[in-house]
Amino acid sequence: MGRAFVYVILGGGVAAGYAALEFTKKGVSPGELCIISEETVPPYERPALSKGYLLPEAPARLPSFHTCVGANEEKLTPRWYKEHGIELILGTRVKSVDVRRKTLLTAVGETISYKILIIATGARALKLEEFGVSGSDAENVCYLRDLADANRVVDVMQSCASGNAVVIGGGYIGMECAASLVTNRINVTMVFPEVHCMARLFTPKIASYYEGYYSSKGVQFVKGTVLLSFEIDPIGKITAVNLRDGSQLPADMVVVGIGIRPNTSLFEGQLTLEKGGIKVNGQMQTSNTSVYAIGDVAAFPVKLFGETRRLEHVDSARKTAKHAVSAIMEPEKTDEFDYLPFFYSRFFTFSWQFYGDNAGEVVHFGDYSGNTIGAYWISKGHLVGSFLEGGTKEEYEALAKTTRLKPAIDDITDLERQGLGFAVTV
Ligand code: FDA
Ligand code: NAD
Repeated sequence: MGRAFVYVILGGGVAAGYAALEFTKKGVSPGELCIISEETVPPYERPALSKGYLLPEAPARLPSFHTCVGANEEKLTPRWYKEHGIELILGTRVKSVDVRRKTLLTAVGETISYKILIIATGARALKLEEFGVSGSDAENVCYLRDLADANRVVDVMQSCASGNAVVIGGGYIGMECAASLVTNRINVTMVFPEVHCMARLFTPKIASYYEGYYSSKGVQFVKGTVLLSFEIDPIGKITAVNLRDGSQLPADMVVVGIGIRPNTSLFEGQLTLEKGGIKVNGQMQTSNTSVYAIGDVAAFPVKLFGETRRLEHVDSARKTAKHAVSAIMEPEKTDEFDYLPFFYSRFFTFSWQFYGDNAGEVVHFGDYSGNTIGAYWISKGHLVGSFLEGGTKEEYEALAKTTRLKPAIDDITDLERQGLGFAVTV
């Protein structure tokens, strides 16, 4: 025999925390809801792990960044869950799910049943082994997905003061960690296969703006190549990395950020998958009507672009979570999800925001030798995406509002001339 709940959230990350808060707002009763998480702490704002958590002075530590502080909402501490009668089953991995029987089996052998299941299993970091390189388990090789990983980064960083770090990957983790390592006075070399950083989003011009600053802070870039193997000393520590281009870089530590895979394996063969995630409709409902999916694992229809997308960002985790709970608790009042994709990042003193879709022709604006830069993306005669570094709250709001309207653009030169002024006056 095991426990039975009306609502079970599987996974205890960002989306789970925001879903829990929304459940209480919609009037869930004590004892009806539980969260099962492999992590040993209640949901927290994961973005802190590559930023405030890695600061050399006054670093962020729990409980300061439990959800939902990132959206200026209540901080959900263990006590909050207790007071609301929400069961937290932490440090517990779910090893199988039977959606037909509506049961989950945990790694400790407990069967938990549900009426409604919300999948919030997020994603896992891709390992170097998946690219044919071994050595990921060496003590000075770090990944960064959860609190345990972040603690390891902190420990390894502290043990190699003024040493050399090699950062593998030029995406979000690579850029944010490189900046944090520099702030901790570690020499950083970034290695990635593309011609510039953040290749999934940035244009060459935007990338070169940030790369210029990183270089001025001493960061070296090795582009267009990948890691081939590690040099490992007799006690199992990495001492250098060998690259496919034949070069070797000394390394006291290695940070790897080479992308993620959504945690869908429990549902393969049981639910419809798409874009590497679990396919949901505009109510975040999967191909099984008793099962919903939210956050990084969910592939949902983005109405604005008429396409199913899976997004790997905190804003979509928060909003898909709220939407799913609303659809579950108040179906008659809940419209189809209508989401404007929103990504952001912060490193050094930079802070940028992106809205919409980075498709089509690009128009850059702003002062690329100054503090405020931006870009618009124009596809099929409409503005579909926008990027801004160093904006004010009002400017970011204007950018979001304008991008959602997808205004027709007849004259690209005029748009370029107006720059940020276009979004502010639409
Ligand atoms: P999330 O990964 O948060 O949670 C998944 C949970 O499920 C985990 O608790 C996991 O242990 C649990 N789980 C999985 N399988 C399980 C199983 N079988 N049994 C039990 N538990 C299981 N985004 C952004 O927009 N701006 C930013 O600045 C950042 N910064 C950032 C930094 C770092 C270091 C990372 C790793 C990520 C970001 N992100 C980000 C991305 C953002 O954090 C991410 O999109 C959300 O955390 C996704 O929330 P989810 O709840 O979907 O997954
Ligand atoms: P990513 O997809 O942003 O970047 C992956 C990078 O890996 C690519 O840019 C590429 O340079 C590199 N790469 C791919 N194959 C490689 C190989 N064989 N060898 C070396 N490099 C290789 O993924 P990430 O940076 O690992 O981030 C992980 C997840 O965390 C993503 O979902 C991301 O959205 C999320 N995240 C988001 C933020 C943010 O939104 N500010 C911050 C941190 C993390």
